[in-house]
Amino acid sequence: MSPSIPDDSHDPGLPATAALHRRGIKSFVARAGRMTTAQERAWQELWPRYGIEDQGIPLDLRTLFGREAPRTLEIGFGNGESLLALAADRPDQDFLGIEVHRPGVGHLMLRAAALGLTNLRIACRDAVDVLDRQIADATLDAVLLYFPDPWPKKRHHKRRIVQPAFVDLVARKLKTGGRFRLATDWQNYAEQMLEVASSCAALENEFDAGYAPRPDSRPLTRFENRGQRLGHGVWDLSFRKR
Ligand SMILES: C[S@@+](CC[C@H](N)C(=O)[O-])C[C@H]1O[C@@H](n2cnc3c(N)ncnc32)[C@H](O)[C@@H]1O
Repeated sequence: MSPSIPDDSHDPGLPATAALHRRGIKSFVARAGRMTTAQERAWQELWPRYGIEDQGIPLDLRTLFGREAPRTLEIGFGNGESLLALAADRPDQDFLGIEVHRPGVGHLMLRAAALGLTNLRIACRDAVDVLDRQIADATLDAVLLYFPDPWPKKRHHKRRIVQPAFVDLVARKLKTGGRFRLATDWQNYAEQMLEVASSCAALENEFDAGYAPRPDSRPLTRFENRGQRLGHGVWDLSFRKR
């Protein structure tokens, strides 16, 4: 078990979101990476169809999707491989994605439009802020966090998105019985995830005190593929909202 959980994320005297905002530390840095012409076109033509603007108030998800259906949110979807596969595979469910990397968002919109998907919406901002201000409590059936930036250097661990206040926030957004699924290819981060999520009173580990089997629903993403090439292991976790 990692003894190195950063202690800057949760003052028990503060509500979780206040603690998160007070942290002021982002889990991402603006990545260089030019958009292709097709991705730029996607931003012009497809963002109005798939994009979620910041209106500063919780979204009415029923109106957004035009129906009541199970809802899954993926945080930091990268190029969107898993989200695309899930949304295409489950037309009877609705999917939300949050990603700050604009080319990745463009990529996902292009692929989604090519498949004619109508059950997907995307926010392109800090997931902490979107969760806090735009997602009402107890409205999600699942939250996915696959291969979040590992910030491997110890002095950067405070940038890792999985901190007690963040996990509390995710738990609040889940319906009772909803799932929080995580995966990482960094053992030390997996240990941190296990410790932090196990300490959240609103969640229970679906696999006793340990890791979960790899879910069939998770396609091999670019980052997982890269981890495998580098010989990294992969740790999955699955928690249920009490
Ligand atoms: C290592 S990549 C993994 C991408 C994808 N899940 C995969 O497995 O291929 C992590 C992604 O999370 C995004 N990210 C990190 N912090 C974020 C935040 N606070 N809000 C939204 N996206 C974030 C990054 O831009 C990056 O694309």
